[in-house]
Amino acid sequence: MQWTGLNELREKFLSFFESKEHLRLPSFPLMPAADEASLLLINSGMAPMKKWFLGIETPPRKRVTTCQKCIRTPDIENVGKTARHGTYFEMLGNFSFGDYFKHEATAWAWEFITKVLELPVDRLWVSVYEDDDEAVEIWTKEVGVDPTHIVRLGKDDNFWEIGSGPCGPCSEIYFDRGEKYGCGKPTCGVGCDCDRYVEFWNLVFSQFDGDGNGHYERMEHPNIDTGMGLERLACIMQGVDNLFEVDTVQNIMSHIAKIAGVQYHTNEKTDVSLRVITDHIRSTTFMVGDGILPQNEGRGYVLRRLLRRAARHGRLLGIDRPFLYEVAETVIRENANAYPNLVENKDYIIKVIKVEEERFARTIDQGIELLNAIIDKIDSDIENKTVRGADAFKLYDTFGFPVDLIKEILEERGIGLDEEEFIAKMEEQKQRAREARAAMGDLGWEEDILSDVKEHGNFVGYTDFAAKAKVVAIIKDNQRAEELSDGELGSIVLDITPFYAESGGQAGDGGMLKSDSSFFNVFDCKKSKGGHFVHVGELTAGTLKVGDTVTAAINAGRRRDIMRNHTSCHLLQAALRNVLGDHVHQAGAFYDDNICRFDFTHFSAVTPEELEKVEEIVNRAVLSAIDVEVREMPIDEAKKLGAMALFGEKYGDTVRVCNVPGESIELCGGTHLDNTAKVGLFKIVKESSVAAGIRRIEAVTGRNVLKLISDQEKLMQETASALKVGNPAELPVKAAALNSEMKALQKELDGINSKLAEVQMSNLFDGAQEVGGIRIASISLNGAKVEALRTMGDHARDRNPAAICVLTTVNAGKASILVCCGKDAVAKGAHAGRIVKEFTALCGGSGGGRPDSAMGGTTEIFKIDEAVAQLPAIVGKFIQ
Ligand code: ALA
Repeated sequence: MQWTGLNELREKFLSFFESKEHLRLPSFPLMPAADEASLLLINSGMAPMKKWFLGIETPPRKRVTTCQKCIRTPDIENVGKTARHGTYFEMLGNFSFGDYFKHEATAWAWEFITKVLELPVDRLWVSVYEDDDEAVEIWTKEVGVDPTHIVRLGKDDNFWEIGSGPCGPCSEIYFDRGEKYGCGKPTCGVGCDCDRYVEFWNLVFSQFDGDGNGHYERMEHPNIDTGMGLERLACIMQGVDNLFEVDTVQNIMSHIAKIAGVQYHTNEKTDVSLRVITDHIRSTTFMVGDGILPQNEGRGYVLRRLLRRAARHGRLLGIDRPFLYEVAETVIRENANAYPNLVENKDYIIKVIKVEEERFARTIDQGIELLNAIIDKIDSDIENKTVRGADAFKLYDTFGFPVDLIKEILEERGIGLDEEEFIAKMEEQKQRAREARAAMGDLGWEEDILSDVKEHGNFVGYTDFAAKAKVVAIIKDNQRAEELSDGELGSIVLDITPFYAESGGQAGDGGMLKSDSSFFNVFDCKKSKGGHFVHVGELTAGTLKVGDTVTAAINAGRRRDIMRNHTSCHLLQAALRNVLGDHVHQAGAFYDDNICRFDFTHFSAVTPEELEKVEEIVNRAVLSAIDVEVREMPIDEAKKLGAMALFGEKYGDTVRVCNVPGESIELCGGTHLDNTAKVGLFKIVKESSVAAGIRRIEAVTGRNVLKLISDQEKLMQETASALKVGNPAELPVKAAALNSEMKALQKELDGINSKLAEVQMSNLFDGAQEVGGIRIASISLNGAKVEALRTMGDHARDRNPAAICVLTTVNAGKASILVCCGKDAVAKGAHAGRIVKEFTALCGGSGGGRPDSAMGGTTEIFKIDEAVAQLPAIVGKFIQ
């Protein structure tokens, strides 16, 4: 066996299986397809191919081979601490969809590792599922593996499943690294936890569809799903201990070490940080390259967490500036051949990472300040030094300050955290998120209760707004039903349908299903997990049964409004790229009959001038009445035409292309106008920020522009009549005049107030009491603002060094009390903070502050006089 680089190994594997008639496909994006929402990130070679395994969709060939980018995050915390853990890896795999099975899978695996890679046979071991006699037979008799090198293991080791989906018994291939890596126990062997036997290739005899809870259904035909960790294989071929020593990974780490000015293997602490950053920058570069953006939930949160953890370890290494974006360049370079999309999107990836790093730096500084404030409060007020879970949660939730960092800082200062409360707050937030998801149109079924329904609802709504259709399934109370009666809510699946099911940002259609004897009002149409078009609504007359024929008709007016918004959104994207640059990519979109909402990548607010330009470009296309061409074509042809694809999205071989000649060309499954003039007019109503690096534009079209104009007109009329202006055109002049009139009046009022206060203040010491040579004055200035109170207090204090002034004011039933102690009074022991504390305690309030000036408050206003009477006694306690 010969030292082989990681990139070369990948190529060897893929071309070997090509020689066995496998179709080589590029890695799928890390972001699962839209209808695989249950999976956060692609975590194995087979994950993006579930539909091919289950027979829901036909694969492009029955034999496929890939090298799949994968991310697994269950033990992020351990990454770095050990050299074994990592979040990012590549999985080599060969797959059979109802084609070959155990015989070929085992024979080819053996051929590849012994003939192509020339791994020494005496160091190879094989495990099989305990009952799988057939596999043992094949391995020994057909493939020729030494029977003493085969072990049978139980379900824990040799039954492969991850979450729900295709699974089955498996056979694993191990490499014996030699005795010196062993634990030395007499029981040490294949399956032992120690470092001697490395499992590197898993051949899954994929036969079942599991629900993730131990229930298995046999799939139509048995499949093969194999997975070999590329980095693990590279470790074996390069004779190194762990993934961080593999050639391409080492190159990334060296870059980090160079920036930090440290060396790997010299200090355990810096080694941990180097490993954390190396692993996380690999994951995050690929995630961003696949269109994932840092966000506060879902996969966006995984990305943010990884980036921030890496950034923090950068700080621990003493790097005090953004640097990850520079390392990302090395990641891109090391992977350029296998993942050309990284190179194509290089500038964009670097920008996203840099922006997040800068943002995180600000968060850290701000977070530490806020945390200090919380800690200071504990120091002075409470004995028990524990930060409340709610406070920590707020820091985390509102300011994005990482929990582990909060804990670390508190630990350093010997302060505890009420983790129970923190977790409770976290749970509350998760619950809210779940509710929000449900409200956003989750059909509410835990499982795909339509999996046996063959007809999904053939969509004819690109051209037809009505169709004759047959009811093929009914759902009532989240269960399948045979019929629906008058007044019942339910969901209907038809064999064909003109209803667009909500997807790709376009809202579902509403309308009606009408049979001879019933009427079903469709509120919305959604796509189920398995891809069925589900018409959600209420039966308002008669009875509707499975098998009934209905006329299905959509609300055509609403659909036209939706199409206006959708088509104009394509024009908007093109205009934004034109005005802002090619870094603009769709990051989310929503169109219904009211709004066109488009989220896109851009790193600063869009200026009013830019918005105006964008709006103008879109409207120019609208007014040019351009015919919109929508047609299906092979993906390669679409690419040649320069059609914009959704960033990181995986498309089939045949795609729908929406072309507005000369303006925009995009891959799109939605419904569109046939001519841009039908948009009517396009008006941007709002531009805002959604997340770091993502802006949102909201716009209206058609009748909604008219509505906007008439709403604004009404507003103007109402304003004019409130201001008693006959002609709305005079509004600006009138508003300016009123403004300056108001300013003049305010000035006059301020003058009167301060005169009044002066008069009161000049009488301040009339009848003042004296304690130990210090005069005590109190005055109530009811209605005065707290700021005014402070100004007057400062004034009185500075002019009367040997006096104490107590100023009170009452606003909206709440009294504020200001105590000021002059310089000499303080020298004699007076302390405004303590005085106001005692004072307010007497009238049911609280307060505190500096020796020379302090504030307090109470709602028990009627007790203030009593407290004033006690002032000499209070002051007396302090004056020496
Ligand atoms: N799907 C199998 C795995 O991930 C091959 O190990």
